[in-house]
Parts: sequence; C-alpha cells; structure tokens
Amino acid sequence: MATMNVNGAEASLPEDPRVSLLDMLRDHLSLPGTKKGCNQGACGACTVLVDGERILSCLALAVQYEGRSITTIEGLGQPGQLHPIQKAFVEHDGFQCGYCTPGQICSAVGMLAEVERGVPSHVTGDLETVMLTREEMRERMSGNLCRCGAYNGIIDAIADGLEAESRAEAAQ
Ligand code: FES
Ligand code: FES
Repeated sequence: MATMNVNGAEASLPEDPRVSLLDMLRDHLSLPGTKKGCNQGACGACTVLVDGERILSCLALAVQYEGRSITTIEGLGQPGQLHPIQKAFVEHDGFQCGYCTPGQICSAVGMLAEVERGVPSHVTGDLETVMLTREEMRERMSGNLCRCGAYNGIIDAIADGLEAESRAEAAQ
C-alpha cells in the first residue's frame, strides 16, 4: 500500500490521484491546523514541511509525496509542549484571528533550515555568508500573507523564536 509519513505516523495515500495534499491533511486525516486560504498558491496559509522543506500543500497532489515525511503545525508542537516559534507567537502577539498562523510558523521553521543551508534570497548581499537580518526575514516570509496585518508581531516572534530554537539546539 502506498503511504507517506505524517507527523510521525504512517498514512495511506488517497485512491483519487486528484486529491491535494492540503485536502488529504484536512479532510482525510482530520488535521485542520493547516489552513485553506486561497487554494491557488497565493497566500501561504497551507504551508507544511516535507522532509524539512516548506511547500504549499494546496498546489501539491498527495500522491506525489509517497514515502515522504510531512510535518504540519500539529506535528511541530502541542499544547503544553509548544515549539519555540509557537511560544514566541503567543508572547509577541504574532496573530489576531490566527488563520494564517500555522502557515507562518511552518514557513518560519522551513526558512531557518534554508538559511542554515546557505540558500540565498532576493535581498541577500553576501552570498558566502547568509545572515538572517530582518530584511531577509521579511523577504523570505513574503509568501505568507496575513489579512489582519500582524506583520510586526510576526517578525518579532520569528526573530525571538529562531533565537530560542538555536539556543535549544546548541544546548543538545
Ligand atoms: S491556500 Fe495554499 S497558498 Fe493559499
Ligand atoms: S492573524 Fe489573521 S490572517 Fe494573520
């Protein structure tokens, strides 16, 4: 049977090859944390991690991801055991309605991994050493729209959360 791994558990792929990864997560696996905003790749609300890389799940067919590991917001943290970036969103008022927040958080986690791999962005000056400045963060998070305009809190939360995550990794 064709499967993928979702948040650490095996999940069967849908029989219908037209089902998007977003619909599979929300409707087939009852994981409503990943949000459907535009359903056409324009808002970032549906961002999830595939083997650590961020993708837009509304533009992905579930069957393309056989054998891959998907992490949704439910897999990053849970109440009482929040991911450092989730905690930082709460502490910095990084949301109002919260609809964009799961996508923002998954995107931020994927972004840190991109910077660690040295992947440059449109605003990167020094291609040898990619520094995560606020300008870099804004550029790299520009695919995640927030209808409430909570951008200042989002950037503060990501900056703080990434720092906390780096500290936690260094301590391991
Ligand atoms: S719902 Fe996927 S980008 Fe908007
Ligand atoms: S917090 Fe409402 S859309 Fe971002």
